[in-house]
Amino acid sequence: MVDQSVVDQSGVRSLNDRVSSAVTTAIGRLRPDVSDADAMVRRSAHADFQSGAAMALTRRTGLSSPDIAAALAAELEATELLSGATASGPGFLNLSVTDRAVWGQITARLDDPRLGVAASEDRRRTVVDYSGPNIAKEMHVGHLRTTIIGDCLVRVLDFLGATVIRRNHLGDWGTQFGMLIQYLTEHPDARWRHGEVSGDTESVSALDGLYKRARAEFDADAAFAERARARVVALQSGEAGTRERWREIVAESERAFAVVYARLGVLLTPQDSVGESSYAPVLADTVEALVAAGIAVDSEGALVILSEEVRGPDDRPVPLMVRKSDGGYGYDTTDLAALRQRIDELGARRLLYVTDSRQALHFRLIFEAARRAGWLTDDIEAEHIAYGTVLGPDGRPFKTRAGGTVRLLDLLDDAVAHAEAIVTGKNPELPATTVRRIAEQAGIGAVKYADLSTSRIKDYTFDPARMVALNGNTSVYLQYAHARIRSILRKAANERHEVDPTVCPEPAERSLALELDGYATVLAEVGATLEPHRLCGYLYDLARAFTAFYDRCPVLTSPEPVRGNRLALCSLTARTLEQGLGLLGIDAPERM
Ligand code: ARG
Repeated sequence: MVDQSVVDQSGVRSLNDRVSSAVTTAIGRLRPDVSDADAMVRRSAHADFQSGAAMALTRRTGLSSPDIAAALAAELEATELLSGATASGPGFLNLSVTDRAVWGQITARLDDPRLGVAASEDRRRTVVDYSGPNIAKEMHVGHLRTTIIGDCLVRVLDFLGATVIRRNHLGDWGTQFGMLIQYLTEHPDARWRHGEVSGDTESVSALDGLYKRARAEFDADAAFAERARARVVALQSGEAGTRERWREIVAESERAFAVVYARLGVLLTPQDSVGESSYAPVLADTVEALVAAGIAVDSEGALVILSEEVRGPDDRPVPLMVRKSDGGYGYDTTDLAALRQRIDELGARRLLYVTDSRQALHFRLIFEAARRAGWLTDDIEAEHIAYGTVLGPDGRPFKTRAGGTVRLLDLLDDAVAHAEAIVTGKNPELPATTVRRIAEQAGIGAVKYADLSTSRIKDYTFDPARMVALNGNTSVYLQYAHARIRSILRKAANERHEVDPTVCPEPAERSLALELDGYATVLAEVGATLEPHRLCGYLYDLARAFTAFYDRCPVLTSPEPVRGNRLALCSLTARTLEQGLGLLGIDAPERM
């Protein structure tokens, strides 16, 4: 008979799940009236698993928790799955699984390219809005987190089976472009184009500098300000020459962003860019709909939406600006139009916006307005994926020594340089080009991992020396663990590792196997909470369980069948680390 409980069509059921079902069944047999109770099963130091269900059931059953635990233990006879169930202490139920069941999980996961991870039932069409740098401005430390977190969420949700649409909401529209274009027109000798300036991303640095000069001139010279305003009108009305210059600026900036994206190894492509400008043609319509619905109201010549949920310090409803008194539209209106289009035209049922926590109020007001307008209905989820600030060594928001913004590429160079020192120190004999490649993978991975492994909403300090450390919760530690396992597997000539389910595992083998079995559960959690640090924590625990195993259990020198089983554990650990790091957007080199 096929054991349906081991493999259902979509993935390998974890032991935790299967043990939970057994406990639930036992509860139902014992007391049908509370058969809906939570089995509350988790990993435990006392046995493989422990259930706290008895404690939660005292109220509903009128029994003492030790009595319930004892009755459940008696109900749970030895099966293929369970080797023992005993009551302990104040009413815990300690549960051990059979060796066969443990090895069975390893075999089943090894046999599956997805390592037994089921595709989630949540297939919602999901838009992830992330990165969103601003045209003619250099990408700086502020864009690091949105780009890295957004990209990880895209990878995880896609792997779990959602239809994911990436959106790079570029800041490519607004009065600042009138200023910049007017300045460039009046200074035809300014050098900013690719080819005129050296370096791949220098064009956007040059534009950034020119914009600052334009701004200064705008503030100092009323006549220039007047010409710049006229230029805004020309841009918005689509005057050909102005549009052409604008397009050029956008293209140069996007070329520079692409360099950063390639270096970071994120999935964003030019097709994902839907800048603020692309909503310009529908803004008037959007506002009209809001007025017709009675949601947008006049306020001293401007149109605003007054919040029904949020009040300001003056105890008055906080306004969302949908049309300024001069008739212009801004960031708020654009986001309303974008949200509507993502729902109506892209068919999105889940909208995620990855920006720093300072935009929390903006998104709260946008979602409220969209709900009132009837665009954001109850079956559609909209969530602001907020995150904290990157801090400098002084514990304050990261700035250069001169107080300027820190260029993202400089940060990456810094981390890669630190990684290079580590890699060279470990393998002095490696050729320079190999060191360079590995250092790049380690350094970029370290930046991403340091970002993803802290709880999203917290601030963290950008400390490259700590990020690339060989020990501790770093990607370099995980990459080394992975490379070490690959080297063991190479020595076994990648022979196929048949698992012999009759072998009695050592405690360290058992711990590693149970850890491996928990991978899918953690991914499902990341999909539900959108918190990548859970996956980082899991991979770190896994690498440590592997280290403990490898310290105590020789692999290549052990006789069969022990050797085969250990090689199987090595192989599944390497694949889990590689796939898990991949979902974080981090490379796992074969050798380091
Ligand atoms: N360009 C914006 C910024 O730099 C981020 C855009 C975020 N996405 C959005 N739909 N508002 O702050």
